[in-house]
Parts: sequence; C-alpha cells; structure tokens
Amino acid sequence: MPSYNFVLNGEAVTVDVADSASLLWALRDTLGVTGPKYGCGVGVCRACTSHLDGAAFQPCTVTVAECAGRTVTTIEGLATGDTLHPVQQAWIDEDVAQCGYCQPGQIMAAVALLAENPNPTDADIDALENVCRCGTYVRIRRAIHRAAGA
Ligand code: FES
Ligand code: FES
Repeated sequence: MPSYNFVLNGEAVTVDVADSASLLWALRDTLGVTGPKYGCGVGVCRACTSHLDGAAFQPCTVTVAECAGRTVTTIEGLATGDTLHPVQQAWIDEDVAQCGYCQPGQIMAAVALLAENPNPTDADIDALENVCRCGTYVRIRRAIHRAAGA
C-alpha cells in the first residue's frame, strides 16, 4: 500500500493506506484520533468537521492521498497545552453539549467561522450546516457570540 505524509495536529504522520481510503477512517482507525465523528460518511451531517490547511472540511469526503503534504487539524489539536481554545471555553461556559456526539464538529466549524468572520450574526451562525440531533442550536449560538466577544 502507498504511504502518505501529512501534518496532523502539529506532528508529521505517515499512513499506509489504499489510494481510496478516506481520511476519516485513517484518522479514527489507523491513527486513533477519534474526535472527528462518523455520522453520514457523505459530507452532510458534518459530525467529522475538522480543518485542512486552516479551512473547515469534512474528512469523510477526502482521501488520505488528497491530504498528502498538507496540514490537518482535528478537535484534538485545538487547545494549546492545558489551555483550551476560546471557543472550547465558551462551549463549557454555555454548557452547550448534550449527548456530545456532534460537538467536536460543531466547535471546529465555529472556529473556522470566527476566523473568517470575527463578529457573526445569528444568521451567519445559523448558516452552519452541522446537524445536532439533540437540538443544541440555541446554546451553540450563544457560545459563538461569547467566543466572538472573548
Ligand atoms: S460523517 Fe457526516 S459529514 Fe462526515
Ligand atoms: S449534542 Fe447530541 S447530537 Fe448534538
């Protein structure tokens, strides 16, 4: 099987997988990085949302081969040592999570949104397409506004 190199959460990694292997399965099954969650596998639920070269993307829709030489960040790479990212802290302060399954993807989508738009409106936040079956959308909104003000 071919080897692919990329940077994952600040560290160089090498993965031996088939050309068609999706990044989500390589992260979860090969590299043990389970923050990105599997929901649909086709880029719709956004539970797996992470960052590729700093932009939000869905690892279930991208092959490992397409990530060669690039930089992948998952929820595991967001904090700096013991210091949470401001969005993670806002999530705690607003007690956002319910079952928690969608939350890594929600947070990664929020971080990418704030990087592009530091002061989003409710409409901007509601345009995020991450699905939460527990319906935590109101608290997600509050947490993003809190992080924007931090
Ligand atoms: S698992 Fe649903 S978008 Fe990736
Ligand atoms: S917190 Fe349960 S799916 Fe979002």
